[in-house]
Amino acid sequence: MGMRAEDRAARADDPADRTASNRTASDPALYDQIVGAVRAGELDADEAADLLIARLTDAELLGMLDGDSPRRLLPFIPLLLGRRPFVAGEVPRLGIPGIRFSDGARGVVIGSSTAFPVTMARAATWNPALEAEVGHAIGLETRARGANYSASVCVNLLRHPAWGRAQECYGEDSVLTSRMGSAMTRGLRANVMACVKHFALNSMENERFEVDVSVDDHALHEVYLPHFKAVVDAGVDSVMTAYNSVRGEYMDVNAPLLTDVLRNEWGFSGFVTSDWVFGTHHAVASLRAGMDVEMPLRLLRARELPNALRSGVLERSTVLQSAHRILRTTVLHAATRDESEPGTEVVASPAHRDLARRVAAESIVLLKNELVGDAPLLPLDSSIRRLAVVGRLAARENIGDHGSSRVRPPSTVSPLDGLREALPDVEILTPSRSDARAAAGVAAEADIAVVVVGLDEHDEGESVINGGVEVGVLSGAFRSGPLRAPLVALAHLASQFVRGGDRSSIDLRPADVQLIRAVSAANPRTVVVLIGGSAIMVEAWRDRVPALLMAWYGGMEGGHALADVLTGAAEPSGRLPFVIPTDVRHLPAFDSTAKSVVYDDRWGQRKLDADGHSAAFPFGFGLGYTSIEHTLLDHRFDEAGGSARVSVRNTGDREGSIVVQLYAADLSLERPVSRLLGFQKVTVPAQAETVVEVALDAGPTLQRDPRTHQWSPRPGNWVVLAAQHSPSSWDGARPLRRTAVQDEALDD
Ligand code: BGC
Repeated sequence: MGMRAEDRAARADDPADRTASNRTASDPALYDQIVGAVRAGELDADEAADLLIARLTDAELLGMLDGDSPRRLLPFIPLLLGRRPFVAGEVPRLGIPGIRFSDGARGVVIGSSTAFPVTMARAATWNPALEAEVGHAIGLETRARGANYSASVCVNLLRHPAWGRAQECYGEDSVLTSRMGSAMTRGLRANVMACVKHFALNSMENERFEVDVSVDDHALHEVYLPHFKAVVDAGVDSVMTAYNSVRGEYMDVNAPLLTDVLRNEWGFSGFVTSDWVFGTHHAVASLRAGMDVEMPLRLLRARELPNALRSGVLERSTVLQSAHRILRTTVLHAATRDESEPGTEVVASPAHRDLARRVAAESIVLLKNELVGDAPLLPLDSSIRRLAVVGRLAARENIGDHGSSRVRPPSTVSPLDGLREALPDVEILTPSRSDARAAAGVAAEADIAVVVVGLDEHDEGESVINGGVEVGVLSGAFRSGPLRAPLVALAHLASQFVRGGDRSSIDLRPADVQLIRAVSAANPRTVVVLIGGSAIMVEAWRDRVPALLMAWYGGMEGGHALADVLTGAAEPSGRLPFVIPTDVRHLPAFDSTAKSVVYDDRWGQRKLDADGHSAAFPFGFGLGYTSIEHTLLDHRFDEAGGSARVSVRNTGDREGSIVVQLYAADLSLERPVSRLLGFQKVTVPAQAETVVEVALDAGPTLQRDPRTHQWSPRPGNWVVLAAQHSPSSWDGARPLRRTAVQDEALDD
């Protein structure tokens, strides 16, 4: 049975157990034997961790608390990340493998592997079951590459689409993020430990090392943290801290969040790691605050912990507590993961490519599809003979940013490749030059023109070298010595030249807008395909084109998936995981140079609702190729959540799918703000009808008392509505919490 931390500390420190021979004898089979005993139910994971700790020397114990790589590898991290797992706490003498890290969010970054659509694209599928399949595939490939720990679960909330790493998260909504992040976690855990990042409030890039986020308790617990809690409840093994500080404390030393909230309030029992290199600010204070592992090098802790422990500045019980969490989690996972060991044949296997293609197709959001003549422009009519394919991104590999989540697939399919393959009998016209005139020229000769524009790794992404790095972690000499100023200046200079970072504007590049105007003027049958990781403004030109799709960074099979959707072989069943406003000023302010920001409860669709602005395309929006109606039949709901039954009827003449979305709002407010409670994607054959059950989260309708930490219903006149995107009218909404009288009436 489990023991209290103090008892464990005492036992592991028992001199009887600490004989020199016991501590140094080589026993490389020990770890596997202990894992076997846990698997067989002969030991529990706490006992297993204690047994291992009793065999560790002090140096090995401290070695658990940081990465194993020497600091001289710092400049080579980006290169090495693509070559091998980064290991922390390996003890070959006892067969302890340590935590063996791999990123990332759209596939395995080690070697050449399956590149799935980016996280934001997968959010647009609104399909957690599919996300669990992606998690399972990434877990298998991660394990096949020799890692046992994957940082693929990124659940920071999209506060503003200009965030450079927007593509790595699941959008602006907490319920959608919770469901998708939990599904990814469950999928990964069949093979590897899952790490969720970046805890917490990390949604700016350029100043990520320095920015301090102010937030009140209401916004913190009710807006920015619920999805982290959901992923913890889903069993995530590890949490990675963010680089930024919150309420004046860097996250690695932020005891209120790491200990009071994460462990005491939520009951998280896994281990916490730092974000890399510049994410650890104090060797001892971070350990005390609850950050267990400094990743990925032997930097601050290797330098300071041995003396601190020897001199008594650092209590042994703190060291033992962290070592216990790490070993307990690692052993438990090894004892419960799938037993069969995948070989490298799983990496970029035909099954995973096929999955990548299905996900990419399901992620594509059809934003507009107007009649041209007597039929909508899409899907492409089989009678077309000539198709113009133009735009800067039509023929390029463009599968996401070049930061730490970069995946290198063995091959990729561009939009042009995909269309050529799907339409062998159609003449595909491409311009001979890259200017708008040449594109308009080929468009004029074609039946239909497809314009592929948007963003790439130069416009947005993780900024690997940032200005505000804390150079003191590299060496004591850089803390205050004469070398500090030149090194900081060098880092700032370097940051000017690297790719990625926050977007300076959420518009398309002017040349792309010019291209859309020229092509649509030359051929009214123009389809615009947008590529990017979050919202792109469309207001300046959307009236000029009859068809518009958001196709994201669609992964290695993105071009096939796009062709599947354009030709109608697949339904465009994606829905927006964020709002696209008509004016960027309808979003919160975004200053990529800010050193301090306030995060409140006004962002995304909710801010537009509260301020009375209509969207260009609301949160949850997306069209299909058939028409589907839905009706809320009944629902039940209380403080623990509930469910709704919705009937869905396909009135069209082809199979199609919708995402049934349930929203709640407080109608006592002058401008009700819609909150997603639950959703369910469903495919319905032509002319058929079905009933779906939708699980409802209570969270968005609750409030947390900052004093007692208790959650209770938020007062107000709450109603619920079934919809196909965030609603602008609450006509037909029903009371969310039914009274006993209403219940009786319904039962009769
Ligand atoms: C990123 C993390 C990533 C880590 C290791 C950091 O710079 O912020 O998201 O997991 O590098 O690749």
